[in-house]
This record gives sequence, structure tokens and C-alpha cells, in this order.
Amino acid sequence: MLKLGVNIDHVATLRQARGTDYPDMTAAARSCEAAGAEGITIHLREDRRHIQDADVYTLRERLQVPMNLEMANSPEIVGIALDVKPHEVCLVPEKREELTTEGGLDVAGQLDELRPTIESLAAEGVSVSLFIDPDPAQIEASASLGVPYVELHTGTFCDAEGSVAEAELNRLIEGARLASSAGIKVNAGHGINLDNIAGILHMPHLDTLNIGHSIVAHAVFVGLENAVRAMIAAMGAYRGGEA
Ligand code: PXP
Repeated sequence: MLKLGVNIDHVATLRQARGTDYPDMTAAARSCEAAGAEGITIHLREDRRHIQDADVYTLRERLQVPMNLEMANSPEIVGIALDVKPHEVCLVPEKREELTTEGGLDVAGQLDELRPTIESLAAEGVSVSLFIDPDPAQIEASASLGVPYVELHTGTFCDAEGSVAEAELNRLIEGARLASSAGIKVNAGHGINLDNIAGILHMPHLDTLNIGHSIVAHAVFVGLENAVRAMIAAMGAYRGGEA
């Protein structure tokens, strides 16, 4: 069964917008869990624009499903991850001025910087995933680092139309095949919503989809539990991809 990890960063965005102590992050996670989410994702950004350090510690204690901590490979954040020991860390590129994560991690160009971080996290029992574009060079570099997971960046496909979208979907399909044949489990995420998910479901070998913005946006109208249920229902059409 294809799993859903719900990214709840934008519940924290709403809280930070007014500096209140609500909406409560644990309550948000509980709603996602009740609706069938099999993981909760949070991104502790260096600028702390949404998720705060205290959220990471509190959710680590209270979550009933695995925590996936998205983060940059920066010494400060790696130190927090080694202290918190989430089930999974997804290493992402991060630029301060970006609205959201732009592009995948350049694993091939940063092997020496990534290796010690991956080794120290793995030594603490943390499962490491690398957020990469569906580029053979990046997949091969990820395999050379021995990570158990990659997360293929679906943002370009999700933002595109027509032949560009078709070409990008083919890259995602090929990327998932290549990663799986290298023994790496395949997650996917970024920009996925109820309109474009049908395309994503053509990707083979999918383990987990990590989805945030569209679910939290839908929740404004139907509530978080219903928004998560709607995404899980759409994912129910997954038959292993391709075709
Ligand atoms: N996966 C990764 C690695 C991300 O950085 C993000 C955005 O934080 C997501 C998934 C979720 O993307 P979206 O909010 O567009 O669903």
C-alpha cells in the first residue's frame, strides 16, 4: 500500500503569522493520524519560519506514527537531529530567500559533505533519505552513499503542463525504476495535489508520498481530517505505477 506522510509545516506557518500558541501542532498531527496518515513530516528550517525547535522535541514525544524531519545539511540542524533522533531525516537543499524547497539536493557535487552526516545519523538509528531530482547522476550518487531512501522531487512535474509535464513524468518514472534497481526505496513529494496526483500514480516502486501545502489548504474548507482522507482516497488508485 502506498503510504501518505503529511507535512504539517503550514499549520505552524499559521501559528507563526500571529505569534499565538495555536493552532496546536500535536492536535494537527492527531487529526492526520486519525485520518490514516502513516507519517508526519516537518521541516526545521534554518530561519525557523514555521517549525520551531520545541515543535520537533514535542512531536517526537507525542507522535504515534514515524516522524520524518526535513532539514539542510547544516551543523546546527544536524546537531538537533542527532539529539531528537527522528525515525527518518530527509536532507534537502535550503536557501533563505526561497518560498519553498527549490530543486533537489546536489548529492553528486556534495558527496564529501553528505557522507559524515549520513553516517552519524545512521549510527543513531535514523533512516536517511535524500531529496533529489530524478536525475540518473543524483540517483547513482545517492546509491554510492548507501542511503535506504531517496525522495524524488515532483515539483517540476506538478507545476508543468502538456508535453513538458509528460517529459517530466517520464523522468520520474525512469528515476523511480533506477533507484529501485539500485536497492533504494522511493518516496516522492513536492507540489502534489488532488488535481495532479493521477500523474504521480504512474511512478513505479513508490513507498510514501510526502504532501503538505495542498492538504493544509484543502483543510481550510473541509477540516484537516477530511483533507487527509481525501488524499488517501485518491492514492487508493495506486496499482504500482506505469501503464
Ligand atoms: N518533500 C520535501 C522534501 C519538501 O521540501 C516539501 C516541502 O516542504 C514537501 C515534500 C511537501 O511539499 P508540498 O508542501 O508542496 O506538498
